[in-house]
Amino acid sequence: MTELLHINASRLHARIDALAAISPIFGAQGEPGNARLALTDEDRDGRDLVVTWMRDLGLHVEIDGVGNVVASTGPGASVMTGSHIDTVRTGGRFDGNLGVLAGLEVIERVAELGLILARPLAVAFFTNEEGARFQPDMLGSLVAVGGLGLEEALDTTAIDGARLGDELDRIGYAGGLPCPWAAPHAFVELHVEQGPVLESEGFTIGAVTGVQGISWQEVTIVGQSNHAGTTPMRLRHDPAYAAAAIAVEVRRLASTLPGQLGTVGKIDLTPNLINVVPASASLTVDLRNTDEAILQRAEHEFAAFVDALAEAEGVTISRRRLARFEPVEFDAEMIARVETTAAALGHSVMRLPSGAGHDAQMLARVCPTSMIFTNSVKGISHNPAEYTSPDDIAAGADVLLNVMVDLAR
Ligand code: GLV
Ligand code: MN
Ligand code: MN
Repeated sequence: MTELLHINASRLHARIDALAAISPIFGAQGEPGNARLALTDEDRDGRDLVVTWMRDLGLHVEIDGVGNVVASTGPGASVMTGSHIDTVRTGGRFDGNLGVLAGLEVIERVAELGLILARPLAVAFFTNEEGARFQPDMLGSLVAVGGLGLEEALDTTAIDGARLGDELDRIGYAGGLPCPWAAPHAFVELHVEQGPVLESEGFTIGAVTGVQGISWQEVTIVGQSNHAGTTPMRLRHDPAYAAAAIAVEVRRLASTLPGQLGTVGKIDLTPNLINVVPASASLTVDLRNTDEAILQRAEHEFAAFVDALAEAEGVTISRRRLARFEPVEFDAEMIARVETTAAALGHSVMRLPSGAGHDAQMLARVCPTSMIFTNSVKGISHNPAEYTSPDDIAAGADVLLNVMVDLAR
C-alpha cells in the first residue's frame, strides 16, 4: 500500500440522501427509510438517477439482459465494486445503496486525484438482490456470473404476478450486454453489516470471510374450510393450525441445530376471516447456516416434520423451492487486503461471516472477491431504523477506495 486516500464523505452522503428521497417511507419513530421493490416505478426512478450520475462522471455505462447496470472507466478486466439499489418494502437507506454510491464516490475521487491506474475501475448495481419481489434473491448477479440462464430469469414471476422480463421492458432496463459477463479482475463490495456483531464487539470495520448458506421455500397447505362454530375440533383439517405448527418447528430446528437460523416471514390465510376455518395457508421458510451439512440436516428434518403434520391433520402440504445457495468462502488474499487496509487507515477491524445474502457471493464464483462491512447501530436492518453513523460510512468507503486503488495499480 502506498499513501492512504480518503473519499469525500459529504458528496457520498448527498447522493445517499438524494437516492433515498425517491421512495421515502418512515419508521415508527419517523426514521427515514426506503421502499423500492425491484423493477417497480420507484426502482426505475432510482436507476435513472444513478445512471445519470454514472454518465455525468463520463463512465462507460452498459445494461445487460436482466437489467444489471455496470459503469466502468475503460475496457478490460476491471477492479469492480457494486451492490444493489432495490430494497425490501420496509428498507433502510444504506442496505445496498451504500455499496453502489460508495463505488461511484471511489471513481469520482480517483479521477479528482488524477491517479493513473493500470486497470479500469467499475461500479455495478444488480437487479433484484433482495428477493423480496422476485425469487431467488441475488437474481441479477446470479445471471451475470452464469449461475442462472437469462430466459429462465426473465420468466420469473413476482409476488404480485408480474413477469420479470415484462417489468424490465416496462421500466426500460432490458439491455444488450451479454450474460454471463466477462469476469472482472476482482470484486469488492461495501455493505452495512445489518447485524449486531461489529457493534457489540466494538469494531468499526468487518473483513467479511464469506456468506452463510440460504434455503428459501414456500409451503402451501390445503385443508377443509368450514364453520368455526359448528365444526368439532376432531373433524378439522385446519391450514392455520398447520401453518402455526410449522412456525414452531422452524424455531425448534433453529434452537437445536448448531448455528442454525430459521424464519417464517410471510403467512397468508385464505379466506382470512374470524369465523372460518381457512381453506388454505401459504407461508415462507428461510433457513440459513454457515455449515452446509447442518443446513441440509435442517432441510431434511423440516421435510419429515411437514410430511408427518400433513398426515396427522389430514391436510395436503406442498413445498416449492424459492432459493438455495450453499455457503460461500471469500478469497483469502482479498479478505487479508480488507483487513490490512482497514488497520492501516487506523480503524479497528475483525473478521466475520455475513448473515445476509449479497451480490458479492455470486461474483465470488468468477473472480477473487471479498466484502467490507461497516457497523450497524443495534444491528437493525430491513427496517427504516437501519442506521450507520457518518464516521463509520466514511471509514468503510475509505477502505473501499484504498483496496480498489491498490488492486488497480
Ligand atoms: C437478502 O439480502 C437476504 O439476505 O435476505
Ligand atoms: Mn443488501
Ligand atoms: Mn437487504
